[in-house]
Amino acid sequence: MSRTRAILVTSALPYANGPIHIGHLVEYIQTDIWARFQKMRGHRCYYVCADDAHGTPIMLRARQEGISPETLIARVAEEHRADFADFRIGFDNYHSTHSPENRYFACLIYQRNLEKGHIASRVITQAYDPVEQMFLPDRFIKGECPKCGAPDQYGDNCEACGASYSPAELKNPRSAISGATPEQRESQHFFFRLGDFEDMLKAWTASGSLQREVANKLGEWFDAGLQEWDISRDAPYFGFEIPDQAGKYFYVWLDAPIGYMASFKHLCDRTEGLSFDEFWAPGSTAEVYNFIGKDIIYFHALFWPAMLHGADFRTPTAVFAHGFLTVDGQKMSKSRGTFIKARTYLDHLNPEYLRYYFAAKLGPGVEDIDLNLEDFTARVNADLVGKLVNIASRCAGFLSKRFDGRLSGEVADPELFASFVRAGESIADAYERRELSRAARDVMGLADRANQYIDERAPWVVAKQAGRDRELQDICSMGLNLFRLLIGFLRPILPGTAEAAEAFLRIPPLTWDVLPEPLVDHEIAPFKPLMTRVEPAQIAAVLEASREDLASQDARKTKPHETRTEGHLVREPIGETIELADFARVDLRVARIAAAEAVDGADKLLRLTLDLGGETRTVFAGIRTAYRAEDLVGRSTVMVANLAPRKMRFGISEGMVLAAGPGGSEIYLLGVDAGAEPGMRVR
Ligand code: MSP
Ligand code: ZN
Repeated sequence: MSRTRAILVTSALPYANGPIHIGHLVEYIQTDIWARFQKMRGHRCYYVCADDAHGTPIMLRARQEGISPETLIARVAEEHRADFADFRIGFDNYHSTHSPENRYFACLIYQRNLEKGHIASRVITQAYDPVEQMFLPDRFIKGECPKCGAPDQYGDNCEACGASYSPAELKNPRSAISGATPEQRESQHFFFRLGDFEDMLKAWTASGSLQREVANKLGEWFDAGLQEWDISRDAPYFGFEIPDQAGKYFYVWLDAPIGYMASFKHLCDRTEGLSFDEFWAPGSTAEVYNFIGKDIIYFHALFWPAMLHGADFRTPTAVFAHGFLTVDGQKMSKSRGTFIKARTYLDHLNPEYLRYYFAAKLGPGVEDIDLNLEDFTARVNADLVGKLVNIASRCAGFLSKRFDGRLSGEVADPELFASFVRAGESIADAYERRELSRAARDVMGLADRANQYIDERAPWVVAKQAGRDRELQDICSMGLNLFRLLIGFLRPILPGTAEAAEAFLRIPPLTWDVLPEPLVDHEIAPFKPLMTRVEPAQIAAVLEASREDLASQDARKTKPHETRTEGHLVREPIGETIELADFARVDLRVARIAAAEAVDGADKLLRLTLDLGGETRTVFAGIRTAYRAEDLVGRSTVMVANLAPRKMRFGISEGMVLAAGPGGSEIYLLGVDAGAEPGMRVR
């Protein structure tokens, strides 16, 4: 094997205010497989992570539960650790951003950037909640859309009409925490001068270590111009106070990526011979990789390397972004039961299934990946149970019963064995390039050949014939030797199954370089089934339990809008009274959806072509997070037909369809009988 590499691998740090769900697991499973592969290759590879414990949402969530943020993050950390351990995510260290190591590095990186003039300071005006006595992050302000008047819009874009605006433009703004009308107040903030790093970032991008899609994104951001980044927040805030700036805190996203270093430092401090500087000093030849989701590229591909560079640390070797998980082709949805928590999955299903399924779907790019539940069942049963485990179960019985579990003294078909070993190099190459789907596919191709070998030699026939004992032992030994190779190749993906197989084969944990040595004249343990089939009932149980999760949560529910941010409960005051006559002026008509398409550049909008029976209308509807365009065509709904046309960023909207819901995947378009006549008036 080639030289031993020193590799540090990280996954993005999950927020400490919510549970791990199967979307997160795409990332932790992908990273874990890659790190396990590197370790199996004999490299010095360390995989670290931590909880992302700071920020306003965590502070508010703790307050809402009547506990301190420290208590909240300690509890969530326990849950996260247990979820990860049970999915066999093999972190070498799991730490917290609320740690002494992280405070040290956050302050150090800030100080060094400050000394070099990369930190600016100026007074800005910001929304302030006079009741809660705190400044309000954009997503904690809601009000009416300045363009279409839709109520209850958050932050800087309207879910109803797709308009974007600054939160200050919202009409009748309210604090989402107290319901109070925000005031505008001044406060001094600190800014990281990202523009100082343009050349450095361009060089880093050009180094070729970024994925093409990510490099392209960066190109767009360079063209748009690099903005200064506000790295400070006012008290009350849960985070680290900025040195010499009483009442000012580092914004959570400043210290979050530094958490990678902090977790690694924490590991170094407990590990003999592991040097922090070997990995982080400028000019380090160690490799550092950050695995992340595509939603946080900006932070990782701009701020993070710039901050490091400004503080005389090395920059990551590469940032690897992946896409988002959909379930059955749609965003994970609480109402459909597809918002599946790691723990809910584990209550019903073997983690190895999901590890394998994600691997079989993951490539090196940023495309979204879909968990199709039917395909999941079929694939796991066919590949893992039907092909892989089957090889061992077909051979093991004869060896135990007839040969005291002893394998033959030599390999029956050395050429076949050697061809498997050779295939291992290309599988290793696939892992290295994060082409996990290729690795899985190649191994399954080999599993087919192993099964074919057994089919052709028909040990069950040989077993019944006198004088063919030696042959029987050879066939079964050969089968198990092929099985051993397959298990070795799949070990990064299926660590639990590999461990059980190693116990059965009575061998130490497999590494890549021992694979070419077959097992000969070796005694194995009695066979126990390594894996059972996925039953559709288990899937149904997961979906059901995920729906139940929602029901039990409803009682203490905040705005579903804010599942990721959760503030206090706010009840909107009832609006001004209108007369029936006012309402009667709204002309509601049955509209058949003749065509529907996604609007480029507006991820919440669908462009609907509505048939009113003799007349068609184009309407932009903010329902894309809940509906796929193709699923809507042919359905009938109700529209406001006499709404004045409005010019929107993407065209003119000639009416409005009736839909309601908290948002995200939970928006419900009013449905009417498919037989209802288009254009019919609805009362
Ligand atoms: N705390 C930040 C990351 C800080 S890193 C210095 C954060 N946390 S998160 O909990 O929201 O997400 C953690 C990781 O999981 C992110 O990389 C995110 O992209 C990924 N995913 C979260 N939901 C996901 C899916 N539905 N699908 C795939 N990955 C997803 O962001
Ligand atoms: Zn609007």
